[in-house]
Amino acid sequence: MRVALLAGGRSSEHEVSLSSAAAVREGLEQGGHDVVTIEIGREDGRWSCEGEAVTLDPGAAPLDAEIVFPVLHGPFGEDGTVQGLLETLDVPYVGAGVLASALCMDKAVFKDLMASRGLPQVEYAAVREGVNADELIERIGLPLFVKPARLGSSVGISKVGIASELQPALALSFSHDPVAIVERMATGIEVECSVIGNREPLASKPGEIVAHADWYDYEAKYTPGGMELVVPARIPEAVRVRVRELAVTAFRLAGCSGLARADFFVDGDDVLLNELNTMPGFTQTSVYGKLWDHSGIAYPELCDRLVRIAIERFERGRAYRY
Ligand SMILES: Nc1ncnc2c1ncn2[C@@H]1O[C@H](COP(=O)(O)OP(=O)(O)O)[C@@H](O)[C@H]1O
Ligand SMILES: [Mg+2]
Repeated sequence: MRVALLAGGRSSEHEVSLSSAAAVREGLEQGGHDVVTIEIGREDGRWSCEGEAVTLDPGAAPLDAEIVFPVLHGPFGEDGTVQGLLETLDVPYVGAGVLASALCMDKAVFKDLMASRGLPQVEYAAVREGVNADELIERIGLPLFVKPARLGSSVGISKVGIASELQPALALSFSHDPVAIVERMATGIEVECSVIGNREPLASKPGEIVAHADWYDYEAKYTPGGMELVVPARIPEAVRVRVRELAVTAFRLAGCSGLARADFFVDGDDVLLNELNTMPGFTQTSVYGKLWDHSGIAYPELCDRLVRIAIERFERGRAYRY
């Protein structure tokens, strides 16, 4: 098939997206697909393809591709905005639709939705500027984490060990987003599970993140050797089953399609859902693909499946009249 990749984008995860897109391109080409890459400028948001400006005309190259794979992470890519644009252009695309993308990007909305269905999560509060810091500490307890509601790759996140660190942590978070999530620190280990599919999603073997840092910050995520992925996660089999079940439940509840990586905190038998990433890091060595590799789906096949799943969803959507 002719596939157009969207790469780069206007978020702080621009560079990560470029790496993911280069890998997806290789994977799809290995599977016999014909791939063009459309790069979206970090600062100006301009779309270009091999140096030429791209017009948003779905009838003209490169957007006349059979399918678009938005390999974009973070705001303006993973948050429903690009998905909405592609919907209006009537172009099929890989991954979650508008609503699921937006709500998985917004940690406050996501957590409230999951809580409403009783999914286990850490104690949290969504706060805005002017929040009473003392009350917050009383309610959540120390240590705690502060994070911008809509970002990724650990950007803008702080661990707060003592009360005096809270204000600077909030200020940093508010410089990225008007809403901050304040969370009790989870104990135990971090476990991630890849999900693929539409209505009958499949969950991979869970993997365990061993960050060579106090927590899984930007550096640990993207410095070579900053983290290690252990597959399967060193947790009892029954807990692995629970992780996979929760991953699929969360995927369905959020209304995801195509793919997502579900992230958890696991301590003993306790499993807490942390987040769903609708366009997780996607290089050959990223967790999403590695977990599938360990679960019997090699990278080129994974890319191919995602494209086929997306077409299937698009065709099904066509059956509805608006
Ligand atoms: N409540 C928490 N308890 C312990 N660690 C946390 C908590 N929240 C975040 N972290 C640490 O911060 C990292 C990034 O947080 P996360 O919520 O996953 O944001 P992002 O969307 O940036 O990945 C986590 O992988 C974990 O290491
Ligand atoms: Mg995360």
